[in-house]
Amino acid sequence: MRAAVYESTGAAHEVLRVEDIPRPDPGPGEVLVRVRASGVNPTDHKTRAGATARPIDEFQVPHQDGAGVIEAVGAGVDPARAGERVWVWLAAFGRRWGTAAEWTVVPARQAVPLPDGVSFELGASLGVPAMTAHRCLFADGPIGGKTVLVAGGAGAVGHYAIELAKHAGARVASTVSTPEKAELATKAGADLVVNYRDADAVDQIRAFLSAADRPVADRPVVDRVVEVALGANLGLDLALSGPSTVVVAYAADGKDPVLPVRACMNANVTLRFVLLYGFPAAALDAAVAGVTDALAAGALTELPVRRFPLSEIVAAHQAAEGGVVGKVIVTP
Ligand SMILES: NC(=O)c1ccc[n+]([C@@H]2O[C@H](COP(=O)([O-])OP(=O)(O)OC[C@H]3O[C@@H](n4cnc5c(N)ncnc54)[C@H](OP(=O)(O)O)[C@@H]3O)[C@@H](O)[C@H]2O)c1
Repeated sequence: MRAAVYESTGAAHEVLRVEDIPRPDPGPGEVLVRVRASGVNPTDHKTRAGATARPIDEFQVPHQDGAGVIEAVGAGVDPARAGERVWVWLAAFGRRWGTAAEWTVVPARQAVPLPDGVSFELGASLGVPAMTAHRCLFADGPIGGKTVLVAGGAGAVGHYAIELAKHAGARVASTVSTPEKAELATKAGADLVVNYRDADAVDQIRAFLSAADRPVADRPVVDRVVEVALGANLGLDLALSGPSTVVVAYAADGKDPVLPVRACMNANVTLRFVLLYGFPAAALDAAVAGVTDALAAGALTELPVRRFPLSEIVAAHQAAEGGVVGKVIVTP
């Protein structure tokens, strides 16, 4: 099969190649998926670049997320699953067989039925971003009727955080940095979108919270913050935090925050950190179930897509690393 591979870490143009390699067979409990779309996430290019240390077993086919059709099943898997359209999560976690190839093999549980009418590109955009967003929103209980602040609502995780929160009945405010990104966050369903560079960003969000149809104590606070840049935003988050607030940080780009302990105590805030690779199995299952429910309800949409054929895998990684607005999809 044609596959993107790397054998050592480094810059995309130095280590990524497209080659013919033997197609894997599904082992016990696994399914063979013909890949129609392969999603690129920051974790994929960070791992390839060597920024996050992960051992390579001879070679690595990159990309955790994908979507396609089950072509064969291994021992112990219901043969009726052959022919099923699926989205795939964590294909390359501790395994060679990422989705940047014509076929991948994954444990059957990591190939989830894709509802009729949902595109392969949307399916290939879900695993890392939507499952992470789900954990950020729901690790501390239901959010129906609550208020959620999503930092960076035009990013992949931010986008699904807005859509999953709206689907769950929350009121959502989001921050962005440009009008183009504001449009994306609004389209995803955010009730309020604020440019985080505005000097009065906190006041804009407070005014939105005060307008909420619920009792407000001495100052309005949000119930959840889905935070992409804790170092940059902790001050803003704390200004909107109280005893009901959980600030959930899921990214480690940029500067680490200096923790203002007194301000955190004053707010009685809870800080949580989230990394998909360490989710308990029950949280992964809950995320798959939550994403499936939202998909079936038509509540999840794609960000604008930049498509690359497999032969242009280097350009695809460079586009993702360059901070493209929207989603990079590779089509094997
Ligand atoms: N913990 C986990 O399991 C997990 C899972 C998925 C992703 N991640 C990490 O999370 C990060 C984002 O992933 P992604 O796929 O969503 O990336 P993405 O699609 O590139 O989105 C990142 C977004 O963050 C925004 N942003 C940057 N600085 C910001 C700030 N100070 N305030 C508000 N927004 C800000 C960016 O917009 P502007 O630059 O215009 O503000 C951009 O829209 C990456 O570092 C990734 O590795 C971690």
